[in-house]
Amino acid sequence: MTYAWRGLSLDIARSFFGAAVLTRVVDRLAGLGLNRLHLHLTDDQGWRLAIPGRPELTELSGPTAVRGGQGGYLTVAEWTNLVEHAAARGVTVVPEIDLPGHVGAALHAVPALNPDGRARPPDDGSAVGLTQLDPDLPATAEFLHDVLTAVAALTPGPWLHIGGDECPLLSEAAYAGLVRQAAAIVRAAGKIPVAWQEAALAGPEADLTLQFWSAGEAGDPGIRRRLAASAARLVATGAPVILSPAAHTYFDHKYSPRDSFGQDWAGTISVEEAGGWVPEAAVPGLDPARIVGLEAALWTESIHDEATLDRMLWPRLEAFSRLAA
Ligand code: ACM
Repeated sequence: MTYAWRGLSLDIARSFFGAAVLTRVVDRLAGLGLNRLHLHLTDDQGWRLAIPGRPELTELSGPTAVRGGQGGYLTVAEWTNLVEHAAARGVTVVPEIDLPGHVGAALHAVPALNPDGRARPPDDGSAVGLTQLDPDLPATAEFLHDVLTAVAALTPGPWLHIGGDECPLLSEAAYAGLVRQAAAIVRAAGKIPVAWQEAALAGPEADLTLQFWSAGEAGDPGIRRRLAASAARLVATGAPVILSPAAHTYFDHKYSPRDSFGQDWAGTISVEEAGGWVPEAAVPGLDPARIVGLEAALWTESIHDEATLDRMLWPRLEAFSRLAA
């Protein structure tokens, strides 16, 4: 089956990979017939794209990273070269600004985003779900507008990813309101908003393309419940869906239970399994006609150099590409 969206999501927020590595990644994606590079540019641990008019984001949160990882950020010139290089090879770069959770790097760089007005300390850990924007602060609306408008202006491709994952400490109403606000800014800037499955909570007015990642097969009971509920909400919407089931496409995971390196919270993924799952069966109840594509993901809490990236990614991405393309 050839899907319209055949992608890789690469986390350069936990640990940074710069323009040279990203250019090599683009070339190899094109060689495999893949056509989207989704870059996870912001998270608790770092901010990786210079934002015109908001230099504090990369000045203060560019150098930070997960423990043992690399800091750094892409300048506007590097970003522009990368997206043009990719477009010339049939690869559309999709920037992700993760919100309203996973915003520790923004809270570190912009004191006014914090309820007490004080910069949050840098975060070099791997815990998730501990940071969120505050919908009641005037700085939040300014931040959303400035950042999303700037990223849209820097990005020739039609999509802008607004994250939306793992934000358990906000009320559902506050979360949905912030996602709707972000989606409206992205639309007004002429881009199509994409978000992780949890953002289905924002309702049809957010008009999102949704990215499925988990039905709640792992984690504590609270995490499982929230993910199962968001997967059910995704099924109930009519939104287009990109499939990134962690158990099949998260290539930061071990190849086999015998491996000493890699994540295993969603199981292990051999090369055969990376290319051998059935997309139409990945989300029970989902109308296959809504599946616009498949996207693999490489998270970098523990992947800090190109050799490790190569070892974890390419054998499985090659198998994945045969399923997607
Ligand atoms: C995700 O794995 N938090 C999208």
